[in-house]
This record gives sequence, C-alpha cells and structure tokens, in this order.
Amino acid sequence: MTVFLVGAGPGSADLLTVKAARLVADADVIVHDRLADPAILELARPGTEFIDVGKQPGRPTPQEIINTLLVHLGQQGLKVVRLKGGDPFVFGRGGEEADALRAAGVPFDTVPGITSAVGVPAAAGIPVTHRGVSASFTVVTGHRERGGSTNVEWEALAKVGGTIVILMGVAERAVIASRLMNGGLAANTPVAAIHWGTRPEQHTVRTTLADLADTHVESPATIVIGAVAAFDFTSGSVETNAVI
Ligand SMILES: C[S@@+](CC[C@H](N)C(=O)[O-])C[C@H]1O[C@@H](n2cnc3c(N)ncnc32)[C@H](O)[C@@H]1O
Repeated sequence: MTVFLVGAGPGSADLLTVKAARLVADADVIVHDRLADPAILELARPGTEFIDVGKQPGRPTPQEIINTLLVHLGQQGLKVVRLKGGDPFVFGRGGEEADALRAAGVPFDTVPGITSAVGVPAAAGIPVTHRGVSASFTVVTGHRERGGSTNVEWEALAKVGGTIVILMGVAERAVIASRLMNGGLAANTPVAAIHWGTRPEQHTVRTTLADLADTHVESPATIVIGAVAAFDFTSGSVETNAVI
C-alpha cells in the first residue's frame, strides 16, 4: 500500500479534489493537521483511525515524529492518507515527508490541493493577477526562524512589482510592512488580510501598508499586498477606491 500526501485545500470541505475525497473515503489511517475542515474527516468510512498531528501554536508536533509515524504506518501496509492544508508542497513540509518515505523505501504518492496562497484571496474576491494591474504574484512566508528574522529579502521584494501574498505573516506584519516601505513600496499600497478563508468564519480586513501594523489581524490569515488587494469581486463589483 501507499502513503498519500494529500492536499486538503484551503479550508472548506467543498474545495477538496475528487481524488482526495476518494482517498479519504478509502483510508485505513488519516494523519491530519489543524487546518483540515472536520467535515472532510466525516467522509471517512467507519473504522478509519484518525491521528491529529496539528501544529497548534505552543504545542508543536516535531516534524521528525510525523516523518517517523508515516514511515511506520506505511511499513504496516496500511492505506495511509497524510492530509495537509492547502497544497502539500506549499509551505507544508510535504517534501520532507516524501524524503523520509523514500529513504525508508515506503511507496508514496502526492495529491495536489488548492493552496491558500491563491484560493483564499479568490474566495475574498481578490484576483492575485489582473490584466493591466498585476502581471505576477510572489508567495512568501512571514514566519520568523527561531531567534532570527524571516528569510525573505523584503526590501528587494518591494522592487519586484506585482502582488505579494504572505502566508504565516500575522505576527511579523509590522516588521514586514516597515521593510517593504523601506524598499520603496508606497505607504498607501492596498493590503487585504483574509482570516479563515473559505470557511464559514471567513473575514477580510482591508487596510494599507502604513496602517498594517496597527490593524487587528487574526491568525491564520493570508495577507495580500498590492493594487489588487483593493478589489472585491465577491459581489460582482469592484471597490470604488481600487488603486489602478
Ligand atoms: C503552514 S502554511 C501551510 C500552507 C498550505 N500548505 C497551503 O498551500 O495553503 C499555513 C498558513 O497558510 C495560510 N492559510 C492556510 N489556510 C488558510 C485559510 N483558510 N485562510 C487564511 N489563511 C490560510 C495561513 O497564512 C497559515 O498560517
């Protein structure tokens, strides 16, 4: 049997792929993280074992333990689904799990999911590219390495142009905004922070780069920076204050 590294999509169970839903329904064991919608787990058949390795802030499950667990389950010949939020290879450490499985000789397969980097802005009515406005988007982590700073050259990123999408950036948003402005991005650059996108709790906060530090944003959130962040296509109309 195989271990499947499965993307669960950005939140709503409706955004699971057909292949992911089929694998969940057929699994012996599902190893899942905290971003998986509980409704996804209800697709499993009776008797399926669930193992929650959710990385809650302050209660992390070390990655090495997850790797070892997947290898152990795979070696027992079980049908294992490793369910991860969004896409398994976008800031999901899916590559490390694949590496561990390959090193142990355990067959595995990868099932892509809709990443929050694109799916969450879309659910909030924000296109990450828009003809004549933004011809590219850059996806970065705002997560700070232990005892250090983020690995992103924010001043350089400010000069790239296009849309900036930040995952795991809530805690560091003041530093990020300041460094982007130091790099040349205008203080009035539109910013949208989407909390729990595609879930019933979805909430979008609109602000500017200058005001981001003082704007209340709850985690998990996807932060979009650039002209498109002023757009709102949820209701079929564009915000009148869109900066184009
Ligand atoms: C560890 S990363 C995993 C990303 C995931 N692999 C993906 O492709 O979406 C988790 C971060 O993704 C973002 N995120 C994931 N789901 C989200 C959601 N439903 N709403 C807003 N942001 C979300 C947040 O920035 C969160 O801190």
